[in-house]
Amino acid sequence: MPVDLKAVTRRPPETVKIWVRRFHPEKGATWWQSYEVKTHRGMTVLDALLKIKAETDHTLVFRYSCRMGVCGSCGLVVNGEPRLSCQTQIAEKATQEKPEIRLEPLYNFPVLRDLLTDFSEFFEKHRKVRPYLIRLDKEERENPKLEYEQRPEELEEYYEYTLCISCGLCAAACPVYASNPKFLGPHALAQAYRYLADSRDEGWRLRLEELDEDGSAYRCHFAASCSYVCPKVVDPAGAIQRLRRALLTYKFRLFRKRTAKPVEPMKEAKPTVPLPPEAEPIEGVDLSALEREEALIPKQKLLED
Ligand code: SF4
Ligand code: FES
Repeated sequence: MPVDLKAVTRRPPETVKIWVRRFHPEKGATWWQSYEVKTHRGMTVLDALLKIKAETDHTLVFRYSCRMGVCGSCGLVVNGEPRLSCQTQIAEKATQEKPEIRLEPLYNFPVLRDLLTDFSEFFEKHRKVRPYLIRLDKEERENPKLEYEQRPEELEEYYEYTLCISCGLCAAACPVYASNPKFLGPHALAQAYRYLADSRDEGWRLRLEELDEDGSAYRCHFAASCSYVCPKVVDPAGAIQRLRRALLTYKFRLFRKRTAKPVEPMKEAKPTVPLPPEAEPIEGVDLSALEREEALIPKQKLLED
């Protein structure tokens, strides 16, 4: 999604009206509630929610953790678009002409309360695609002593999909996920492709058979709204197309994949680049520990301090 990066430098309207679609499970009631929030430059939607919770209404429920676009827990719908609240600037969504923002819980997820949604089914679908490396040799699995050699071009095949933070924005934007409960969704299918494409994985036969049985990848209509909203610029729609190609070639017995073999671990490499001469010594800290790859501050000292 094109994020307005300059919004962080713009001053938002001095006061913004935040509309929140609230839900109370015990009362079974849904209603819109508005809050006036005094803003500052750089304020995010999450900052505004935290301010409301601290100063105006402690009953408002929402989820967050890292506040830096990493944990994927703060997804909600801002002015109709699935977004991470910690990455969305107030200045991006509210203008001087229309100083208002509308917040809703993520679409296509059951709402637990206010902006808090239930991810159980989402993660259940994720689990279904076996999102981990599978090796067929039991001994190698249980007593791993070696490591796998992977070529840069093999890493490139799946690296993009490792950036996924499981925020669910793609599922909230997907029209098929909204209408077909059997559809695994863009997130789970992109993760299926991530492991299928990994040369260290040997579970491709298992995955392809299961995915084909369910026909899940073929249910995608290629609306591509998943890729449009992804905050990590992952392309789940592209992954689903690659997955379809793999399914078809597998069906016609044409699927080929090089599997990485276990090799002896690489010898510990000596640092080849010395510390830059301009690095200022810090009193009490032995910088040469960096060259020996040791902790700069011994653990014992940390505990004592
Ligand atoms: S693919 Fe993108 S939008 Fe979907 S869960 Fe991963 S990070 Fe979120
Ligand atoms: S709070 Fe972690 S991604 Fe927003």
